[in-house]
Amino acid sequence: MKILVIGNGISGLSAAIEAAFLGEEVLLAAPFPPERTQSVMAAGGINAACADGDDSAALHAQDTLKGGCFLESEQDVLAFCRKAPENLKWLDDMGVLFNRNPDRSVCVRAFGGQSRKRTAYAGSSTGKQIVTALTQKCLEYEIRGRIRRKTGLFFHSALIREGRCFGALFFQPETGRLLPIFADAVICAVGGQNKLFGKTTGSELCDGYAAGRLFSQGVLLRNLEFLQYHPTTIETDHKRMLITEAARGEGGRLYYLDGDRRVYFMEEKYGSGGNLMPRDIVSREMYLCPSQVYLDISFLPEKLIRERLDEVRLLCRDYLGLDVSAEPIPVAPSIHFFMGGIRVDREHRTNIDRLYAVGEAASKYHGANRLGGNSLMAAVYSGRTAAQSVHEGCSPFKEDGPRMFSSFIEEEQRGLDALKNSRSLYPAVYIQRNIAEIMNRSLGIVRTGKELAEGIEALDFYLNALKSLRFDPSVSIYENYRIFHMALLAKAVMQSALERRESRGSHFRADFPETKDEFRKCSVAQWKDGEIRIRFEAE
Ligand code: FUM
Repeated sequence: MKILVIGNGISGLSAAIEAAFLGEEVLLAAPFPPERTQSVMAAGGINAACADGDDSAALHAQDTLKGGCFLESEQDVLAFCRKAPENLKWLDDMGVLFNRNPDRSVCVRAFGGQSRKRTAYAGSSTGKQIVTALTQKCLEYEIRGRIRRKTGLFFHSALIREGRCFGALFFQPETGRLLPIFADAVICAVGGQNKLFGKTTGSELCDGYAAGRLFSQGVLLRNLEFLQYHPTTIETDHKRMLITEAARGEGGRLYYLDGDRRVYFMEEKYGSGGNLMPRDIVSREMYLCPSQVYLDISFLPEKLIRERLDEVRLLCRDYLGLDVSAEPIPVAPSIHFFMGGIRVDREHRTNIDRLYAVGEAASKYHGANRLGGNSLMAAVYSGRTAAQSVHEGCSPFKEDGPRMFSSFIEEEQRGLDALKNSRSLYPAVYIQRNIAEIMNRSLGIVRTGKELAEGIEALDFYLNALKSLRFDPSVSIYENYRIFHMALLAKAVMQSALERRESRGSHFRADFPETKDEFRKCSVAQWKDGEIRIRFEAE
């Protein structure tokens, strides 16, 4: 079978490697090499309950469900947690440079919202080390002809007919041409939605376009209102930089100043484990602080900082000119992760036959708030699970894809070509900045129905403008055509947040501060008859 994997971060690489291992033929398509994916930014670690401690998959699952405010299926979360030790070994065997104990076992550390130490790590560049090992493995399969890797391909749309996916269409910036790739199954590993918000801790290459476009093609989205604010980030010119939760896992303390007095607000309210409460709680407490919050790790031994938190030391030195061994770090919450995304079942199938979604692109396991360290494990697990599901459940298509889609492809190409000759009153860059401003204004740590309704109105203005006005010559055609579907996704996020009239996890409504049983459900967004519809369903 031919499997198309779109995206080459940790989830895409895991899917490709697993599918190739199972004997399938894989095409791995992405805009840039794996070294440029958001996965390399992951710092603190990856969770697995290792059998030799007092930890267990059941405890890992319990923490994950509780952290996510009980929105996910217990069974699915348990399956994910049960496989975690095996997946950690899979990475270890591949040569990921995890920190090790004297007996050579993989070191684990404390992370937020977890009842046991279960976060394995490679210094504070865990994502980078995992991507390096997976890329190396991928190369082995490339040499054997099982994986073909192509970069320079920007996802344009899926090739869907009568509820089945036959491949995808890619934009090639050098030629301006669309390239169709037909496959027996497509695994979508396109990441989250950072660019909708401008500055976040993640990569702007994850702009939400793919989710927005797939949404307009009938793919269901889920739990979009749950956006994770990571409590400890620092401001730089280009983006927010993550100060890994591991800094608090290793003992770092949060405080603000009341005159000269340090107020350790998390410890005062939640006791000795206060600094490591789940991220939604820490971010909300920081939001309420009357002055700048600091993270202090200056009292940690220098050797420990260099061995386990070196990226934190270097980031603060290079971007803030600050010595973490002598001074506290000024920190603030910022958008870090999207619990919402493409709705999938336990095998990572979407509602479209032969179309799968994995990694941050999919909404699964994390509920209303993700625990740190679970995203890297979910990326590996979902990638491998989807590949296994395709291998076991799909067979080669008999239909003639190129013939079926020839007029669709021509039409899409004509649309792109026409875009070059149109002129926009509102340049794409301007609209994009405005969307980010609207999203940040209405979808803060604390929201209200009024702000969300205003946000929807503002987005509607741009969605209408974008129907007739397009091309901005100051940016590439690629950026021009993506903006409409980004705006559409933005509106679906906003509408999901408006319709969840309660507070749960990362979604806190000042006008509905209580958690309600009737909303112990997942929101599902659907594009139907030119409208966004939101409904709520169990799991
Ligand atoms: O703080 C961190 O290192 C982030 C980890 C994560 O989001 O899983």
